[in-house]
Amino acid sequence: MIAVSTFYLTTPIYYVNSTPHIGHAYTTIAADILVRHHRQRGDDTFFLTGTDEHASKVFRVAEERGLDAKVFVDRIVEENWRPLAPLVGAEPDFFIRTTDDEHKAFVQDFVERLRANGHIYEGTYSGLYCVGHETFISEGELVDGKCPEHGTVPEFIEEQNWFFRLSSFQDALLRLYDERPDFVLPRFRSNEARSLIEAGLEDFSLSRQGQPWGVPIPWNPEQVTWVWVDALINYLSALTYAEPGEDLREEYWPHVRHLIGKDILRLHCVLWPALLLGAGYSVPTQIFVHGYLLLDDRKISKTLGNVIDPLDLIGVYGADAVRFWAARSVSFGQDGSVSLESLHERYERELGNDLGNLLSRTTAMLAKYRDGRVPVADSELAEQAFADLRDRVAGSLDVFDVTGGIDAIWEFVRSLNKYVTDSKPWELAKDEANAPKLDRVLFTLVDGLRAAAVALASYLPETAPSILDALGQPVDLAWDGVARGRAVAAEGIDAAAPLFPRVEAPATAA
Ligand code: ME8
Ligand code: MG
Repeated sequence: MIAVSTFYLTTPIYYVNSTPHIGHAYTTIAADILVRHHRQRGDDTFFLTGTDEHASKVFRVAEERGLDAKVFVDRIVEENWRPLAPLVGAEPDFFIRTTDDEHKAFVQDFVERLRANGHIYEGTYSGLYCVGHETFISEGELVDGKCPEHGTVPEFIEEQNWFFRLSSFQDALLRLYDERPDFVLPRFRSNEARSLIEAGLEDFSLSRQGQPWGVPIPWNPEQVTWVWVDALINYLSALTYAEPGEDLREEYWPHVRHLIGKDILRLHCVLWPALLLGAGYSVPTQIFVHGYLLLDDRKISKTLGNVIDPLDLIGVYGADAVRFWAARSVSFGQDGSVSLESLHERYERELGNDLGNLLSRTTAMLAKYRDGRVPVADSELAEQAFADLRDRVAGSLDVFDVTGGIDAIWEFVRSLNKYVTDSKPWELAKDEANAPKLDRVLFTLVDGLRAAAVALASYLPETAPSILDALGQPVDLAWDGVARGRAVAAEGIDAAAPLFPRVEAPATAA
């Protein structure tokens, strides 16, 4: 287990031209699981998310609706984007908006530093720009003259711009990748990034002309900072004003980890470290690149129309169930297809039966056989089972293996179910002579469920405390509670209400 004592984690800041879907929620959920876990380990954590608001498509959408761009973003951010994290049970420490004045001033300072350090020059850019990507796109990437991802014809742009000397960072970046094999995870993504660097880096235009929406270039305010440069800088700028009157950069920047989807690998793994080096900042500690969720084999997007987004099902199943499904359905890091049916299925079979029934049975037996008392006895499970759980979950989450962590917990939960079946407490209860053995069985179940709940707390933040509560155990989520024999005596235990009551599967649109 890597000893991490400070853990600063970011999600991408999302574009606000549309509303959140399960893909955005996926990253936010995974990030929240990781941060909560580190908090349980006693680490000093900071969790950042927010919105990327200066995209030209935002400006255009606002214009089409006859709205001032700021009025448009204020509305959509407050109604749709700020509520995303709480909706999925996530607790970021700060929500950054790139239209914040503090952020804009910081971006200007950052680009000034790049210029002062000799990394910026004036030049003419002519080429194709994809508004969907908010990046320049080469002829070679087009399919039938269109951007293959967005299906739109890119715009031809020719303008005087300020260029960033990315080409001069090739050696420094190759050295970084050689020296730090875990700078980018998973390994195959690191190789992907490294090949992009090896293939050669072209200087790029860091400013845009003729668009009033964005952060003005300080020495040439008729131009605005290219939205990607503006956006990447959020990870740093946020630390300067998240806590009023405090600068958190010294505390957290040396420990920053970025969680992103594979669509924005080049910008984070090639461009961003170069910009940081250019401005005199240290590069991130780590970047984890996860895969894409495909809903029933199609890329998840509202533009597909009649698809019910799993995000909409939080009202039916609860945030914990959607978090569980997101963590468990696809091995984190890989692409994977998911279906709405699988959410219902995991809710019933895994959450309802494996976990929910285990708690119901355990509490019902405590009520029936011991008048609601938790007897203190010796656990019949080996300490090794707890040590394995602790190490596997922490070890997985140390390498961002969100799925490996929940899989380890689920094996433990299933072993508890097997233990009940094997030890047949209902048989033991028939003969008073078995009382000491029955005490041990009941204690083993309470203690096992307690440890499972602590291990689960980062995944199921609502459910875990209610399990502890139902068992009369203190709601102490400290990670060292994932150990044998920590359960305490308790009284007044009632048969618990189902953790995951039955629900009708919503009809899914075809
Ligand atoms: O790219 N599966 O914002 P964005 C998994 N503003 N993750 C998905 C997903 C899917 N189907 N769809 C989206 C931007 N995501 C920029 C980022 S950061 C300085 C600027 C997630 O709104 C995933 O994290 O297009 C992906 O990288 C991100 O949303 C893109 O969000
Ligand atoms: Mg996108």
